[in-house]
Amino acid sequence: MKYYFCDELNNVLSCFHDRIMSCCTGQIGPVYYEGYRGEKIDWDKFREVKIKGFEMLNERDIDTSPCKNCFFLRERKDDDVISEKFNLINVSHWTQCNCGCIYCARMLDSKGAITTKIQKSSYYDFLPLLKELYKQNLLDRENLTAFIQGGDISVLKEFDSIIKEFLKQGVKDFFILSNNIKYQPNIKKLLDMGNTRFITSLDCGTRELYKKIKRVDKFDDMVNNLKKYAKSRHPEKVHVKYIIIEHINDNKKDIESFINLMTEIGIKTVEFMIDNKYLLFTDLDKNPMPAHYKDLYLYFEKLCKENNLNINLWDKTRYVINKYFLDIV
Ligand SMILES: C[S@@+](CC[C@H](N)C(=O)[O-])C[C@H]1O[C@@H](n2cnc3c(N)ncnc32)[C@H](O)[C@@H]1O
Ligand code: SF4
Ligand code: SF4
Repeated sequence: MKYYFCDELNNVLSCFHDRIMSCCTGQIGPVYYEGYRGEKIDWDKFREVKIKGFEMLNERDIDTSPCKNCFFLRERKDDDVISEKFNLINVSHWTQCNCGCIYCARMLDSKGAITTKIQKSSYYDFLPLLKELYKQNLLDRENLTAFIQGGDISVLKEFDSIIKEFLKQGVKDFFILSNNIKYQPNIKKLLDMGNTRFITSLDCGTRELYKKIKRVDKFDDMVNNLKKYAKSRHPEKVHVKYIIIEHINDNKKDIESFINLMTEIGIKTVEFMIDNKYLLFTDLDKNPMPAHYKDLYLYFEKLCKENNLNINLWDKTRYVINKYFLDIV
């Protein structure tokens, strides 16, 4: 019988506002805890979830597994070892945010609210959970990565304490996402230390388009903060995304103004991203992406080469670009 394996299931713990689960891929893989609100966790039951998740990764059971058809599944190798511990923790337990990107799925949960007040998550506090994971010996402290998402860190009261606690737990790498409206001295410090990737989505190069996409007038703050982070010891670790949004910024002129701005600010790494509407929620074999997206990607790539900018692509984006734009299987 054929057996499958998933490195996400083995390594990742995603602490979302509505569930604690295996991966962060858009597919609802095995769920450790549904609707967590800070109550006491039955850790035996919790541990069972990963074991059961793996038990279903075979030819016979895969059709009834939540992992069915997932892009991250691969064939199991002899040296694959299932670990009880997690080495990547996704922190995404709040939805409050100080802007309102038109493409953001979180806007459904936060009902479109834009908040500027620093506050606790309306779901649960993450710090006690992190400390408990440590007590339960579920953290692979030799290889730990923290991926902090949101909502936005700018309005999360726990943000600095989470960073402090993760450093105490020996985190090797941080990935921190933010809309970058607020400057964070801790991020500058972490960037200087060299173990942090800071990722933000700008998606435009002008104030007018920014306002249309983000629904707040904070383009200048974003640009000024980027300038400060770009002066850190590791500017290449500041990643700025351009998410292609249909009928909004899906044209060469806007891509050009984005790339020009990045060069002017001193950004070294940009990310090309396709809206999750296509990347995650459309069967592209049946409903293809707009035909001009391929041209836009090639144009983006060309401008990056001309301006000496690195392009970073996330696994799923790379896969979609290879398959649908470049015919690489
Ligand atoms: C929910 S956000 C939270 C972090 C932070 N507020 C931010 O925007 O960077 C997580 C990431 O998903 C990206 N994202 C949100 N909606 C998306 C969409 N429809 N398509 C592609 N990426 C999206 C954001 O740009 C961000 O990088
Ligand atoms: S196979 Fe896919 S859905 Fe299942 S845990 Fe892995 S990434 Fe998540
Ligand atoms: S900044 Fe992040 S959380 Fe806020 S609306 Fe935009 S994508 Fe969503």
